[in-house]
Amino acid sequence: MPHRTIIEPFRIHSVQAIDLPDEATREAALERAGFNLFGLHADEVIIDLLTDSGTGAMSSAQWAGMMRGDESYAGSRSFYRFEAVVQDLTGMAHVIPTHQGRAAERILFEVLVDDGDVVPNNTHFDTTRANIEHQGGEAVDLVIPEGRDPQADHPFKGNMDVDALRATIEEVGPERVPLVMVTVTNNSGGGQPVSLRNLHEVRRVCDDHGIPLFLDACRFAENAWFIKTREEGQAHRTPRDIAREMFSLADGCTMSAKKDGLANIGGFLGLRDDDLASRCRNLLILTEGFPTYGGMAGYDLEAVAQGLVEVLDEHYLRYRIRSTAYLAEKVAAAGVPIVQPPGGHAVYLDAKALLPHIPPHEYPAQSLAVELYREGGVRGVEIGTVMFGRPDPAGGPDEPAAMELVRLAIPRRTYTQSHIDYVAEVVIAVAERAADLRGYVIVEQAPWLRHFTARFEPR
Ligand code: F0G
Repeated sequence: MPHRTIIEPFRIHSVQAIDLPDEATREAALERAGFNLFGLHADEVIIDLLTDSGTGAMSSAQWAGMMRGDESYAGSRSFYRFEAVVQDLTGMAHVIPTHQGRAAERILFEVLVDDGDVVPNNTHFDTTRANIEHQGGEAVDLVIPEGRDPQADHPFKGNMDVDALRATIEEVGPERVPLVMVTVTNNSGGGQPVSLRNLHEVRRVCDDHGIPLFLDACRFAENAWFIKTREEGQAHRTPRDIAREMFSLADGCTMSAKKDGLANIGGFLGLRDDDLASRCRNLLILTEGFPTYGGMAGYDLEAVAQGLVEVLDEHYLRYRIRSTAYLAEKVAAAGVPIVQPPGGHAVYLDAKALLPHIPPHEYPAQSLAVELYREGGVRGVEIGTVMFGRPDPAGGPDEPAAMELVRLAIPRRTYTQSHIDYVAEVVIAVAERAADLRGYVIVEQAPWLRHFTARFEPR
């Protein structure tokens, strides 16, 4: 077989028009939003790479499933289908449906995390960190050193630093570590995968100390594909088989079905332990809903159940990971610094390397994200000191984040290759005038998750 382009393994069945607002409209939108791209109206954006969460296209089989949704309050048929699919994938007996990932996190941490506890993760996503801190716990990131260096080459830059994990547990004492989490793929660390071998090692450390291990499983299928294509001895296995082994190593998982559930909303908490499950279900009823729908409609349960099957299709995963690499290769070939190798769901531009003249407390990645919008109506998201830095209570400069990145997250099955070519052209045009970009100051911010609502002014 000749080597041919890896094409989108689907055809388009329903479309939505998109349009580029003119320059003056974009400028006015930025001013109105306080230079925070979360404040834009989606109609002011032409290619929206803010997130891959809930923004993908569903298949006709998912839409058909939605028509079959059973909206019974208790014991809905759609729940039992959803439960069976999740049980088959994870091997976890208890499947607790939530409206999205962070609801699963909130419930789990309310039950498990007390004041002064420490929760290690390769890298906490902002909502897991915030939910742990909300319970008075401390969220600790223990990714391998290569995972903090955008240019370091390593096939599994999402791996947990197992020695650091052991040292942390011994230092604080296992009784203060209620769970260990591993995020697959490691979103805040560049969408980087975790190897099976590393998961086995983390499991061993948890077993040695009697600590449960949880997967933050949002992008489990993309992680399984990286294992198949990068880890020794895994090439012959199906993504499903690999994913099952990943889940088999965990005592539970939190899942946002808005990513590898291929759905627009939904999530779940998967658990093995009966007692923990019953405590979590009690909280579920308090804020989400009855245990056979939780935070979802019957039709959402159907969409997620079908999505969890489709996401493990090899044609889909090959195209998905290839299309991300395609954007990465295009911008990197033009000299734009990015996190290498590219992640599964997103390309991460390295603003620290591109804008060395803007210090972290003047938010180089925010400046780059704003400029991509100004240049071509493309919306990405800052993952740097705005999202993860710490404001100084004394009013000095923020404590900086480990990296200053702009994430261009690619919604699943939504944009074509020419959309992605356009994005590359915009990124390259901005990079060519990088020296002219200026930093920002924050003029308004919330006490947590400030990146969603902060307002900025150019310096
Ligand atoms: N964990 C990870 C690794 C995530 O990436 C997200 C969401 C969550 C948990 C929370 O899930 O949004 O369904 O409540 N990430 C989105 C993003 C928002 O843009 O990366 P949620």
